[in-house]
Amino acid sequence: MSAPATEREATGVFSPGRARILARTLRVDRWWLSPLLTVLGLSAFIIYATVRSFVRSAYWVADYHYLTPFYSPCLSESCVPGSSHFGTPFPELPMWIPLGFVVLPFLLGFRVTCYYYRKAYYRSFWFSPPACAVAEPHRRYTGETRLPLIIQNAHRYFFYAAVIVSLINTYDAITAFHGKDGGFGFGLGNVILLVNVILLWTYTVSCHSCRHVTGGRLKHFSAHPVRYWIWTQVSKLNTRHMQFAWITLGTLVLTDFYIMLVASNTISDLRFVG
Ligand code: FES
Repeated sequence: MSAPATEREATGVFSPGRARILARTLRVDRWWLSPLLTVLGLSAFIIYATVRSFVRSAYWVADYHYLTPFYSPCLSESCVPGSSHFGTPFPELPMWIPLGFVVLPFLLGFRVTCYYYRKAYYRSFWFSPPACAVAEPHRRYTGETRLPLIIQNAHRYFFYAAVIVSLINTYDAITAFHGKDGGFGFGLGNVILLVNVILLWTYTVSCHSCRHVTGGRLKHFSAHPVRYWIWTQVSKLNTRHMQFAWITLGTLVLTDFYIMLVASNTISDLRFVG
């Protein structure tokens, strides 16, 4: 991965003053396992989400008003009737534009710039560094001070967009309490949509930017007891942010996959009411 120290430019871990170690790493444990699993997990999600976002089929269950999060909100005239909860301000879209194109860039931006995912892909894809005490292969380290990584500073703005998207997903989950013959209905799809949206909120609220929004820039917590209480709760969730990051990738796929199976008549929704 990295060349011996003698062949390297004297920067980064090979800077003067650093220990002159010729070996790539002195670690003898399986330090590569965690980055490898991260690559596999993230790649699987990206491939699945990309394929599903472009196929334009089986994303809406008309009988029960289930809409997959990958197509929400559906705002163009290409959307199947009923799936556009907020109207169709956009005309027909060519096949190369996903129907969820309005929010997908923001969702992607929110995840990609997330502090946890940064750690994950800096280690597993960017090798900067691959692990603690394992030298990185890059010649220089510039941190997040120049393109493209300076874009990471936009995370706080993606957080606000993610709050709006979570509100939209919440609306979708509520709208989905719809019976086959109209009125109230409740099935396994509702449970899946509801669990998914609760976990999406948990991931969003546990964001580091949310901690700053709720408790940042305060000189005296004692003068702001409500904000202090909210910040405390957000901070508790924040300690589990990595778990929420992974769990919500799983629930997003599960929710989409279940709706795809029902919408394509591969299985029937398990109905409890309506
Ligand atoms: Fe992970 Fe903001 S979403 S830090």
